[in-house]
Amino acid sequence: MRRSVIDISDLSPAELEALMDTAEDIIAHPAAYAESCRGKKLATLFFEPSTRTRMSFEAAMYELGGNVLSMTDAASSSAAKGESVADTARVISCYADIIAMRHPKEGAALVAANNATVPVINAGDGGHCHPTQTLADLLTIRREKGGFSGLTVGLCGDLKFGRTVHSLVNALSRYGDIRFVLISPEELKLPSYVKEDALKSKGIPYRQTERLEEVMPDLDVLYMTRVQKERFFNEEDYLRLKDSYILDPAKMAAAKEDLIVMHPLPRVNEISVAVDRDPRACYFKQVLYGKYMRMALILKLLGEAAS
Ligand code: NCD
Repeated sequence: MRRSVIDISDLSPAELEALMDTAEDIIAHPAAYAESCRGKKLATLFFEPSTRTRMSFEAAMYELGGNVLSMTDAASSSAAKGESVADTARVISCYADIIAMRHPKEGAALVAANNATVPVINAGDGGHCHPTQTLADLLTIRREKGGFSGLTVGLCGDLKFGRTVHSLVNALSRYGDIRFVLISPEELKLPSYVKEDALKSKGIPYRQTERLEEVMPDLDVLYMTRVQKERFFNEEDYLRLKDSYILDPAKMAAAKEDLIVMHPLPRVNEISVAVDRDPRACYFKQVLYGKYMRMALILKLLGEAAS
């Protein structure tokens, strides 16, 4: 059965746990997986800039013994001639066994999944969602904090356009005993549809603030984000908001000793490089965990497609 992952809620909580268990097993026994995707091809279709997500998918497929077909530059692809996402998905299905796609338009991955004949993984659709970043984030939290129960999670920065935040809130809200602190300027607040679907409807406690300093001592997890320049309609607003929050050692001094600091990367100014030396900084580990979770997801979807 062919299955795609467009939104994090396409995976049940039990499936998320199983993916994390597979990733842990890959970390412990990488050689056992080195031939798992021999003869299979992953196509990475990236219509938007990316370094880590695309290379993470590609590294994941290589480490499973598979091959990669890569489209990195939309300007040199048929999209520049006006081909639709639906047609591109049909065409690439003839070449590859699985597709990872990033696109600037919300909903593009769903259109691809509805037209492809192989599984499609959404690697980010506009300001909507980014489920495989969430897989990386979940494994990071589980490994570093031992689980999800009882955590106070601070999300800071561009909560409006930050697709990683939307998917993470959606996933974590399914764990029940969790609370959120939403830290953003007024203009970059979490969209009300995310608040409605993931928080209000489930009775998950949350509060909103503009001041990071004030809430630092309460947090178990701090998820920093970049202000998403490419989604702004005007440069002036971006320039005014881009440095709203800068995490530095002075702010870290007020935090819990076992806080973890996360960031999907790329970082611009929102975390000072001095914080990198703090043992609570987890964002580079997060990158590594992302590769293992993508390996686990590719294995699962190709396994299901074959059965
Ligand atoms: C994020 C994205 O593309 O949404 N990056 C990533 O995939 N690691 C975050 C960002 O670009 O700020």
